[in-house]
Amino acid sequence: MLKIWILDSGFWGHYALLDIKSHFPQYDYEVYLDHQNAPYGDKSWEEIYKLAEAGCQELWNKWCTLILIACNTICAETLRQLQDTHVNKKILWCIVPSVEIAIGISQWSIGLIGTQFTITSRKYDREIEKLSPSHRLSSCATPELVKYIESGNQTEKRCLNYLDEKIEELLKDNIDTLILGCTHYSIFYEYLSEKYKNLRIVDSARTQTIKLGEYLHKHTELF
Ligand code: DGL
Repeated sequence: MLKIWILDSGFWGHYALLDIKSHFPQYDYEVYLDHQNAPYGDKSWEEIYKLAEAGCQELWNKWCTLILIACNTICAETLRQLQDTHVNKKILWCIVPSVEIAIGISQWSIGLIGTQFTITSRKYDREIEKLSPSHRLSSCATPELVKYIESGNQTEKRCLNYLDEKIEELLKDNIDTLILGCTHYSIFYEYLSEKYKNLRIVDSARTQTIKLGEYLHKHTELF
């Protein structure tokens, strides 16, 4: 049976798994969640690459068929190097799936929240520019969110106030769509959809499910 591994930096990355499993229950799944080293988003490129590389290596040693990197921070800058190191291995990324969906539903201006590393890398900016130069992107780093989530304090008032402050900043730029550019942030999907009813919310954990479906449809040799 096709075995798919999902790799992320921490415990809450299991949202990607829950979503994917509910759509494709016929496959076998495992998760590699590097809770111990989270958050990745405050680390240097070298540290993130080393951790991502160690994770991938461990999974290939376990004979996994396909790895889904459910971590925007890893995908922001280490993608090319990981692909070069793991030639002929099947790795699926996030970021581009979210960009494709966001530009499909946004009329003019997209907002993005993500880890410090993801925002500083400007990877989303480059992908949006490539696919739709007419769209504007306003981004905001939210480095405290992963810490709140990893410590189980994501429903605390100070966490939600922090999140709201950042969203309010982005709303000043008239965004109509918001990308949750960190898979940990899926946990805020319902809260944000309820509170900001005029915003279309793109959740990078869910967009990866769509991408996986398309990929499996094309690659029947994997079964
Ligand atoms: N969930 C990850 C992401 O999508 C990383 C969060 C972190 O460890 O800082 O960026």
